[in-house]
Amino acid sequence: MSFVTATNIFQSYGRRPILERVNLSVEEGEFVSIVGASGCGKSTFLRLLLAQETPTRGEIRIDGAEPAREPGLDRGVVFQRYSVFPHLSVLENVVAGESFRRPWGRFIGAEKRAARDRAMQVLARCGLEHMAAAYPAALSGGMQQRLAIGQALAAKPRILLLDEPFGALDPGTRLQMHDFLMDLRAETGMTVFMVTHDLEEGFKLGDRVLVFDKPRWDLTDPDIIGATITYDFDARDGGIPFQTIKEDTHVFRPN
Ligand SMILES: Nc1ncnc2c1ncn2[C@@H]1O[C@H](COP(=O)(O)OP(=O)(O)OP(=O)(O)O)[C@@H](O)[C@H]1O
Ligand SMILES: [Mg+2]
Repeated sequence: MSFVTATNIFQSYGRRPILERVNLSVEEGEFVSIVGASGCGKSTFLRLLLAQETPTRGEIRIDGAEPAREPGLDRGVVFQRYSVFPHLSVLENVVAGESFRRPWGRFIGAEKRAARDRAMQVLARCGLEHMAAAYPAALSGGMQQRLAIGQALAAKPRILLLDEPFGALDPGTRLQMHDFLMDLRAETGMTVFMVTHDLEEGFKLGDRVLVFDKPRWDLTDPDIIGATITYDFDARDGGIPFQTIKEDTHVFRPN
């Protein structure tokens, strides 16, 4: 039994299908990159993994069970922007990342001090120790994303969900974030799902690259067909050369 499985997932909004027949098995520790055209349902798929939404049909299993609906300790999430609380300091953001995922809520007393110590360790890991007292507005884009990842990591999730986490960063900062993420992943053995619009980034970081696309096109009404996983590439050891992939995926355009 794989760690994360999606079985015959359909997801519609109203009468409009977004995802159809999505089947996937992911082993614990795998890094799965997800690419696909804008609006094809990549973020929707992450929301299903988070159990923020229940699929119209089909089932998701994490470690053999239906994923819990409430924020749990097992899944952390980072979005392209606005993942951190602007009114909390850098340190408080990381403490909050741990506390709001705990069923018993906020920390008090000695527990709070211990949580702050743990948060400082996370900040050190993210290279943000010196910014602990600052507020997010004072951080650069790269620092804010490191903080968002730190916040997600504070609860030591087994699964990290990243929705275009580096999309808003300049190329140099992006490369630094790649190294940061790869180191973290090697240390923690986390399972990672990362949505990206950058195919090269997907292949560089991922063990697998999933392409979400419509399996066929209905020219009278393109909206009546949902997207599914049309390619599942093995990206380890460099995978298939980047150029070849671009040609292959092209096959799935309207004909
Ligand atoms: N709650 C909702 N109600 C109705 N439609 C929705 C809802 N959430 C998403 N959609 C629609 O579902 C489609 C897929 O959205 P989604 O955000 O998953 O796409 P995406 O692949 O993440 O796109 P992008 O690359 O632009 O982020 C879009 O057409 C969107 O408008
Ligand atoms: Mg999206």
